[in-house]
Amino acid sequence: MTIPRNTKLTVVGAGSVGTALAYAALIRGSAREVVLYDIATAKAEAEVLDLAHGTPFVGSSSITGGSDIGLTAGSDVVVITAGAKQEPGQTRLELAGVNVGIMSKMLPALIELSPHAVYILVTNPCDVLTAVAERITDLPPGRIFSSGTVLDSARLRWLVAEAAGVAPQSVHALIVGEHGDTEFPLWSAATIGQTPLPEWTDSSGALLFPRERLETLTHDVVHAAYKVIAGKGATNYAIGLSGARIVEAVLRDERAVLPVSSVLHGYRGIDGVALSVPSIVGAGGVQRVLDTPMDDREAEQLQHSAQTLADSIALFT
Ligand code: LAC
Repeated sequence: MTIPRNTKLTVVGAGSVGTALAYAALIRGSAREVVLYDIATAKAEAEVLDLAHGTPFVGSSSITGGSDIGLTAGSDVVVITAGAKQEPGQTRLELAGVNVGIMSKMLPALIELSPHAVYILVTNPCDVLTAVAERITDLPPGRIFSSGTVLDSARLRWLVAEAAGVAPQSVHALIVGEHGDTEFPLWSAATIGQTPLPEWTDSSGALLFPRERLETLTHDVVHAAYKVIAGKGATNYAIGLSGARIVEAVLRDERAVLPVSSVLHGYRGIDGVALSVPSIVGAGGVQRVLDTPMDDREAEQLQHSAQTLADSIALFT
């Protein structure tokens, strides 16, 4: 895939997520220039050096960075990963107090240096941060959104692919709603190739995804991060790859349909809340939020997710 010419990606935060995203962007050629910025000078400079040492093995993407925010000037996309991370058993929403504060402090300076950039929030709770960010900045709609359930949808696609013995790329299934405990799959639209998931059979002709199997898959996706965090302290590789994928959709103006999270206005009666629904992502960020068919149960779950997030956002606005 050709590297988008003269494009600059800034990754804010040189923690495990930010460095994984920068690493993924270098390997995938998401942008011509990658800048890794963190207030911790030694950490930022060491991560940049370590990544730079590997650039002879990637395409023509370059990496620079450090603790001088001026290095981020003129970015086309800014991805924010800085903030406190989930501790074992902690929910993403419980991070809101600390991380809304961190984001609110740094966003104005970043926007002043890169007024035309698209801002992608990865820091959790990413949906709450997106809603607060839209209120405290005057960025046009779509220019600030979050990675939302792109990662959760990837987890679901992998789980279904493993069960069915097919490539994850051939599984078309989305998680929507909160990037958190109230997220849910759109089973009504899920297919493997052109086959609706409930009709998929194994080679003996037995249905592979009865209702109880779908419930188990849902549980495994919703609890995936908790499981990884319990074992290694954080999640980083898959969210890094998810973030790089979203960056590419913006920088290449792909108009890709992705379940990113942007502030909804009048969407099935939801207003002022950011949560993930299928959206067209391209130049300028979220170009269009798609009115997606849902069955009655899914429509109910969306409202529950929205209410959960609205309750959390209300604490900060
Ligand atoms: C996860 C973090 C990125 O789901 O919220 O792994």
